[in-house]
Amino acid sequence: MVYTDLPYDEATKAGFARALFDHLDHDTTDMAPEILEVDPRVYTDPELAARERRELFGYVPIIAAHSTELPGNHDFATVQLPNNEIVLVRQADGGVRGFVNTCRHRGARLVPEERGSKRIFSCRYHGWAYGSDGSLRSIADEPTFGRVDRRCMSLLEVPVEERHGFVWVVDSAAGDRTIDIAEWLGREFDESLAAMEMDKYHCHIAQNFDVDINWKVLMDAFLDGYHITSTHAGTVAPYFYNNAQSWEPMGRHGRMVTARKSIDTVRGVAPADAPIDRHITVAHFLMPNMSVLRQPDHLEVLNFVPAPGTPVGTRMQMRLLTREPAVTDEQKARWDKNWNILMAVLREEDLVVNEGLQKAVTNTDIGPIYFGRNEIANQHFHQWMARAFEDSRKWG
Ligand code: FES
Ligand SMILES: [Fe+2]
Repeated sequence: MVYTDLPYDEATKAGFARALFDHLDHDTTDMAPEILEVDPRVYTDPELAARERRELFGYVPIIAAHSTELPGNHDFATVQLPNNEIVLVRQADGGVRGFVNTCRHRGARLVPEERGSKRIFSCRYHGWAYGSDGSLRSIADEPTFGRVDRRCMSLLEVPVEERHGFVWVVDSAAGDRTIDIAEWLGREFDESLAAMEMDKYHCHIAQNFDVDINWKVLMDAFLDGYHITSTHAGTVAPYFYNNAQSWEPMGRHGRMVTARKSIDTVRGVAPADAPIDRHITVAHFLMPNMSVLRQPDHLEVLNFVPAPGTPVGTRMQMRLLTREPAVTDEQKARWDKNWNILMAVLREEDLVVNEGLQKAVTNTDIGPIYFGRNEIANQHFHQWMARAFEDSRKWG
């Protein structure tokens, strides 16, 4: 395997080692002060779902694409977000802009392709044409259409920023929304995420899966280091420690460090000297719906995008990023194998359990659900959600 050393300073790494050794030695994990009770309707309520899309996802930045998916000028990618399908376009000046993928004439879907490169986007319905800057360039048979101020008929635009190797979007063209990823992440979390060097990785594979599960159920599954022994008994459980996590909230987001069983090979060493890089997973959880999981030899970036209009639907945007581009057949086969294992674990285990959960929480007679003190990252998530609704900027 091609390992990359963890790009944190020695004191931070020693801190990870100390925390994990301590938990493993004493069968402990980081814990919240209390058990948290949550109303399970958060997973099923259509009114809440509509509010989340309007009030949260209309305000907070989320990842829409890896920058390498739009490498050249005039490259574009269409991405379904909770409120809008967006077409992201690399501009002549190298920046990226994002537009709602709806023709301003009668509402046709302007760009049907997932990816490509175009200077002009022509609408198939009546042939109106837009530039890659979203401006309306021509109206078919214009004299017969009637007078139109073309400057007011540009594609509707959403705020976009590139940072840490990704294209981020605020999914609203309301016109009064702004984007500032550094501020949204906060200094400490921004620095920690920068150390993941996502801008130096290559997107080996990006795939979408549509599932009939509420997006928060999926987020909860990934924030949870407590289900490995039980849910993943037949696959990855022998390789990962269960219920022993080091959780550091960083403003509205948080970082979790967990150990592979292989950490046992360095457990006798003093934390400051222990070479733990190959034995831990560093997970950055970005509110509300994203995870960046750093495995010793690759990155997994997961984005659980709520489907428009229904509480029970999510597009899982999954990416596997590698340090070096896979060029040879052998390299490609290796990463494809890695991906297939990840997908099998997800499909056959996590999704099976969580489809069952989604069905079970629609039963009429259920009480509250409980997040234990050990489910500290899940507690952070649900508490952030509640706070964000109260905040005028919806940033929690
Ligand atoms: S709907 Fe696009 S040109 Fe008519
Ligand atoms: Fe899992």
